[in-house]
Amino acid sequence: MTTKILMVCLGNICRSPTAEAALRHAAAEAGVDVEVDSAGTAAYHVGEPADPRMVDAASGVGMALTSVARQVADADFADFDLIVAMDRSNLEELRRRAPDEAALAKLRLLRDFTDEPGTDVPDPYYGGPEGFAEVVRIVRDGARGILASLPAGSR
Ligand code: 4NP
Repeated sequence: MTTKILMVCLGNICRSPTAEAALRHAAAEAGVDVEVDSAGTAAYHVGEPADPRMVDAASGVGMALTSVARQVADADFADFDLIVAMDRSNLEELRRRAPDEAALAKLRLLRDFTDEPGTDVPDPYYGGPEGFAEVVRIVRDGARGILASLPAGSR
């Protein structure tokens, strides 16, 4: 069975597009059946491709970022099996928007799948190149953790 996973950040141009690509790559490598998408809680960058600084950092590890930014939609809470927030502020916003208990139960923080649970994927937008490299490192780690958490039937 295909597991549908949505990666969520604020703008959907830096962290969540990278997390989307990292999970897709890791799943393909491991032969795990997932469908991955990403979205932002805010609408500032809707329709835009990933930030060129993020594209550069991701290409350094062979990941192409192909997403076009969109905002989280009400239908996402039903359509996806797992909704993964990049930071605690994104998670709070998703909790606020979740229509019911079933939707709330689908929400997670990316770093809860790493050895630093409860912490954020830091927003790289206003910082230097090291921040973008750090995002790549963290979301690849998180992608491995997410795959390992899936039920054996999907692996
Ligand atoms: P993202 O990064 O949430 O990882 O896509 C950001 C993108 C844009 C803004 C902030 C963070 N912004 O303020 O426009």
